[in-house]
Amino acid sequence: MKRPMPGIATGLLVVGLSTTAIANGSPGPDWAETYFRQGGNDAPACGACHAMAAAETSGQVGPDLDVLQPDRAKLRAALRDGVGVMPSFAQALSEAQIKAMADYVAEAVE
Ligand code: HEC
Repeated sequence: MKRPMPGIATGLLVVGLSTTAIANGSPGPDWAETYFRQGGNDAPACGACHAMAAAETSGQVGPDLDVLQPDRAKLRAALRDGVGVMPSFAQALSEAQIKAMADYVAEAVE
């Protein structure tokens, strides 16, 4: 968690919403932003390692995505195969979720 939670109730609500969004199989920008901040399905949050202003994260293990400005193809390749220290998200995310995450980040940093 990179930001202090306003309260436990809010934290539970956000976790509940993200679980629903993952379970119902229709990932969009809201799902992607939540996953970027919180991770899930046994994978760490993007924001634990990457800074990105749109998601208000400040991780420093990987490159600052606002500076790197990856396009969709680079994002999808990194998510499917991993890059260096960054793990593959092929087990944690479905194809639709990988696409949604690539679309979300590409738009957030352009
Ligand atoms: C455990 C830390 C970690 C997590 C979690 C992580 N990354 Fe990374 N990421 C890295 C590191 C480190 C690199 C640089 C790898 C290198 O260049 O060797 C990187 C590189 C990237 C790149 C650049 C790829 C390239 O070809 O240069 C993108 C895009 C990216 N990450 C997006 C994401 C997204 C989106 C998520 C969440 C789904 C995520 N990362 C989760 C550590 C992480």
